[in-house]
Amino acid sequence: MKKRTLVWDLPTRLFHWLFAAGFLGALGIAASVGHRDPTFLIHKLLGAVVGFMVLLRLVWGLVGSRWSRFRDFTLRPKLLLEYLRGVFGGSERRYSGHNPATSFAAVGIFGLVLATVATALLAPTYRFLGEVHGVLAWTTLAVVVLHVAGVVLHSYRRRENITMSMVDGRKDAPAAAAIPSTRRFAAVAFVALTALFTAGLVHNYDPTAGTVTVPLVGTVRVARPAGNPGDPVPELPGGHGQGPLTAASTLRASTDRR
Ligand code: HEM
Ligand code: HEM
Repeated sequence: MKKRTLVWDLPTRLFHWLFAAGFLGALGIAASVGHRDPTFLIHKLLGAVVGFMVLLRLVWGLVGSRWSRFRDFTLRPKLLLEYLRGVFGGSERRYSGHNPATSFAAVGIFGLVLATVATALLAPTYRFLGEVHGVLAWTTLAVVVLHVAGVVLHSYRRRENITMSMVDGRKDAPAAAAIPSTRRFAAVAFVALTALFTAGLVHNYDPTAGTVTVPLVGTVRVARPAGNPGDPVPELPGGHGQGPLTAASTLRASTDRR
């Protein structure tokens, strides 16, 4: 007998909704304001936090509970084809964890988001990556749209509200698939680390220089230096005239690429 069985631990569920909100927020801002608008800083902040959350999710994919581990993702192309054929033929196999379509979508989304953030950080040095950044972000959105369409299709066809599974962690699965704990402490750690990272970026932001200092990375330029128009603008080591940088390992992540 199938019943609503706990399969998604709390860190995975919290990750899902915070990550989805952060991603859509970063994308929404980029789509609606120009990169010289002060709000664009929020785009960068959200983007960096979303990237950080993916790194934490990668760790959870190694040490998390059963269905959240990458080991339990179904990543065989043959099974994906079989699954998709089943979906359209009305006889798809059921999975307690991620089905092959969600497994591929999740790994694709993680990889694309990390690449989106990496290209943003490297774009000031390699200009063409600015274009690549946009392409990667919109490609991620395409995968997300397919993902949400899959969720809607599944819910309609199976008469099962699987969206709810990412809320309360339970889905129609055999009792033997249940995870023993919702991992509340890890969930608190996930939220605390994400909040600390976000607060750290905000705290280390220097509006005068337009830089933010990131532990292990160095000082990253993220905006135009503040000041009155006409003020002399200090030279960058590279001679771009965009603000003083302090750390040796400087990444010039900036809005002022044009
Ligand atoms: C998942 C995270 C992110 C997403 C989804 C995202 C998405 C986007 C999108 C859709 C654009 C507009 C591209 C276009 O013209 O079509 C954009 C532009 C931009 N993003 Fe991001 N971004 C993310 C993270 C970041 C981060 C972390 C930074 C910097 C620290 C950043 C810096 C920029 C800059 C500077 C531009 C302007 C590019 C230009 O117009 O030359 N982004 N981003
Ligand atoms: C209303 C919108 C959304 C709904 C209803 C939804 C629902 C779900 C559900 C039910 C699952 C679990 C699927 C399964 O049983 O295998 C899931 C997984 C996932 N979704 Fe969404 N989702 C939404 C939006 C998004 C967005 C915007 C993103 C990305 C930005 C996203 C990324 C993911 C990822 C990466 C997973 C895998 C979770 C993990 O293992 O960490 N979702 N989603």
